Amino acid sequence: ATERTFSIIKPDATRRNLTGAVTAKLEEAGLRVVASKRLQLSKEQAEGFYAVHKERPFFNDLVSFMISGPVVVQVLEGENAVLKNREVMGATNPANAEPGTIRKEFAESIEANSVHGSDSLENAAIEIAYFFKPEEIVG
Ligand code: CMP
Repeated sequence: ATERTFSIIKPDATRRNLTGAVTAKLEEAGLRVVASKRLQLSKEQAEGFYAVHKERPFFNDLVSFMISGPVVVQVLEGENAVLKNREVMGATNPANAEPGTIRKEFAESIEANSVHGSDSLENAAIEIAYFFKPEEIVG
């Protein structure tokens, strides 16, 4: 089915001017960017977005990293978009990512791993609504 998922191009990637290169990978995988904006996240925004990881040992470092520079938040649309995006991103840890994936080609570390993508259709809807109004998404 046609789905929408949520993507973040993280500060390590925007810093290295990889917004276009990452987006090209998404598009080559058959995903369509139906909403996009570049943002400087506040600490509160980053903490709220990653609230599910609040108790993890890496939470504070993750929030610091996510506010260390601009991000690009995007809504991606396509057939099986959630799974397709996870495939093109590759494993969370770039050391475990398959060749050709975004994280294998671009990520610096498990933290500075260039992209975030929703892990389920349910979370995709929550994450999209965290950053976008319905009228900002043009399919
Ligand atoms: P993301 O998909 O954005 O979701 C949570 C993020 O935490 C993850 O990608 C990583 O960038 C970051 N992270 C940092 N350390 C770890 C870790 N040990 N395990 C999982 N995620 C980590």
